Amino acid sequence: MKEVTVFAPATVANVACGFDILGFALEQPGDTVTARFGEGNEVRIRSITGDGGRLPLDADKNTAGVAIRHLLNHLGEKRGVEITLEKALPLGSGLGSSAASAVAGVVAANTLLGEPLTREELIPFTLEAERAACGAAHADNAAPAMLGGFVLIRGYDPLDLVRIPAPGELCCAVIHPHIEIRTEDARKILRKEIRLEDAIVQWGNIGGLIAGLMKGDYGLIGRSMKDVIIEPVRSLLIPGFEEVKQAALESGALGCSISGSGPSVFALGNDRSQIEAAGRAMQSVFSGMHIESDLYISAINNQGPSAVHSGSSI
Ligand code: HSE
Repeated sequence: MKEVTVFAPATVANVACGFDILGFALEQPGDTVTARFGEGNEVRIRSITGDGGRLPLDADKNTAGVAIRHLLNHLGEKRGVEITLEKALPLGSGLGSSAASAVAGVVAANTLLGEPLTREELIPFTLEAERAACGAAHADNAAPAMLGGFVLIRGYDPLDLVRIPAPGELCCAVIHPHIEIRTEDARKILRKEIRLEDAIVQWGNIGGLIAGLMKGDYGLIGRSMKDVIIEPVRSLLIPGFEEVKQAALESGALGCSISGSGPSVFALGNDRSQIEAAGRAMQSVFSGMHIESDLYISAINNQGPSAVHSGSSI
């Protein structure tokens, strides 16, 4: 029986100053979906592993299921799709867990159907899944998970995505303390209005960060990784955040901030051994507070989703 298995990566959204408009993909970890044709015209989830039994099998309550349902509706497809989902991404971690499942699911289903749509065309279905998961169709996890690399969301209406080339040595440490923060909650606490003087600092930084990535100017990347709007509010939800950030910067990281809506914290560097040291330093701050954590060291994933084992190739 024909089946398609697709891995989709974790992502770091916001990248300090780019709330809802910038994200990048990691090589690992990620979620994996296997899709095959099923009975009737339904989307069915046969099994979910790696979630500790927390996610419901109801396809309407799962981001992979929601994204596939929107794809099938869009295509007017009468065949049903059945999936199994292997979650390697922790829930509520700030690593783009909901986006990774949605992207893996919709790419697997699209491949099963003979690739009627391009990856870029699949993104709107993953945004519907994000909306179902957290109430907001933000694209800064789903777009980089789908396209790989750094992706700028230049605009939402209409969706205007720009792949931003990044220097090859750029690497990332992400530390995931074992605390859970729901994106929906982390969005509710944000102020709805910002001061003009903060906006000026923020848009200077986002412009600087994009320019730094494109020029391969690490000093500019580091100087620009500052968030004066979101981080001061959300960091209050992460115990020891300032010490963790300090530890990363003292170890030579270019910059450090909250990954997505947290609690994960990421640091960027241009030297693998230095970023590994920064990761260990961040982890030891959490250990000192008796908070367990997982550390991920990764290059930038420029590929996006990949076929794991497939009857047809993608
Ligand atoms: N931009 C989103 C937020 C990302 O910060 O709420 C969530 O992972």
